Amino acid sequence: MSLDLAKIRADFPGLSGNWHYLDSGATAQKPQAVIDACTRAMGEDYATVHRGVYARSANMTLAYEAARRKVAAFIGGQEQEIVFTRGATEAINLVAQSWGGANLKAGDRILLSVLEHHSNIVPWQMLREKTGVEIDICPLTEDGRIDLAAAERILTPAHKLVALAHVSNVLGSVLHVEHIVALAKNVGAKVLIDGCQAVPRLPVDVAALGCDFYAFSAHKLYGPTGIGALWAREEILQAMPPWQGGGSMIDRVTFERTTYAPAPTRFEAGTPAIIEAIGFGAAVDYVSALGLEAIHAHEAALVKCLRGELGAMNDVTLFGPEDSAGIVSFALDGVHPHDLGTILDEAGVAIRAGHHCAQPLMDHLGVPATARASFGLYSDDSDIAALLAGIERTKRIFG
Ligand SMILES: Cc1ncc(COP(=O)(O)O)c(C=O)c1O
Repeated sequence: MSLDLAKIRADFPGLSGNWHYLDSGATAQKPQAVIDACTRAMGEDYATVHRGVYARSANMTLAYEAARRKVAAFIGGQEQEIVFTRGATEAINLVAQSWGGANLKAGDRILLSVLEHHSNIVPWQMLREKTGVEIDICPLTEDGRIDLAAAERILTPAHKLVALAHVSNVLGSVLHVEHIVALAKNVGAKVLIDGCQAVPRLPVDVAALGCDFYAFSAHKLYGPTGIGALWAREEILQAMPPWQGGGSMIDRVTFERTTYAPAPTRFEAGTPAIIEAIGFGAAVDYVSALGLEAIHAHEAALVKCLRGELGAMNDVTLFGPEDSAGIVSFALDGVHPHDLGTILDEAGVAIRAGHHCAQPLMDHLGVPATARASFGLYSDDSDIAALLAGIERTKRIFG
């Protein structure tokens, strides 16, 4: 079923005016349904969760936990396997500090890849500082995918964790998760998937994928900032020690000793992001109603069109594979991506220009930065036409 773009675009107040938003990979615009859910949660419905003895608080607790169930169902998980975090970054840090701190020791190895976002690099380097684990880097294929044949050669029984992006935020390359899971299981390693760019673009079912951890942020999924989720296999999560202490995450506190609540509560110290969680649930509802299959097909058609147009220009270098998911990174000869981004902005076209929090990938590509157009479920041909017109204008300006 194709998407009703006119209806969808009317749902997003952030798209009003003659503005072409091609930076959904950084953060997506919000539908009115999410804005309304947050407004109600902050207004007439507002109260704390998990503690109140009055009806409003009990209702808020129900809404907060309903959001957890929606998020779990959205990726094929169970509610007790979802920890609300501040975002994907915090989810990965949680795994590194809690699971990594408890299970990894000097000499154990972690496999990352060249294309990882800094949030799937730096937490592991911090763990390396603490524990002496070693980090290996899986290379990419010519067209910018994680090279699974190379991964197979690199992996040894010393590898305890493979942590990779499901979809690259720069190249849009899609990881064959089942394949890397099979390779990791052969050597007894756990698999963490950074699903930040995948959940808004592809149907995700953690049970079918077979991974152990899955991290993502709500704000790239048309939900609020300040919230995301860690999904972890239940037996792994229940065995993980808490990583932050405080209210809500305890069972019993005395000055001598504290015992902890079961997961996921044990990992949600302090008053949680109540409004944001409810907005997250509303975003999941919105996206689910449209269907990830339809969203994926829509974005794939846009990628094909844009790559076709840019590929026909002899002064444009395209990065990433043909079938990249929703993201097109490119360079225009003789024009710094920042200059291109600035000129496009004057024409009402918003792209991202920079290293995209993936500096090792920029080093690999041999560029300081790329220009990146990233689509959302509301993107359409007019956005591509405006981008192409802006590129032609930039070429004229730069002679
Ligand atoms: C692939 C990928 N991983 C992780 C992140 C970090 O997400 P957040 O900043 O929402 O924690 C991003 C955000 O750009 C991303 O694209």
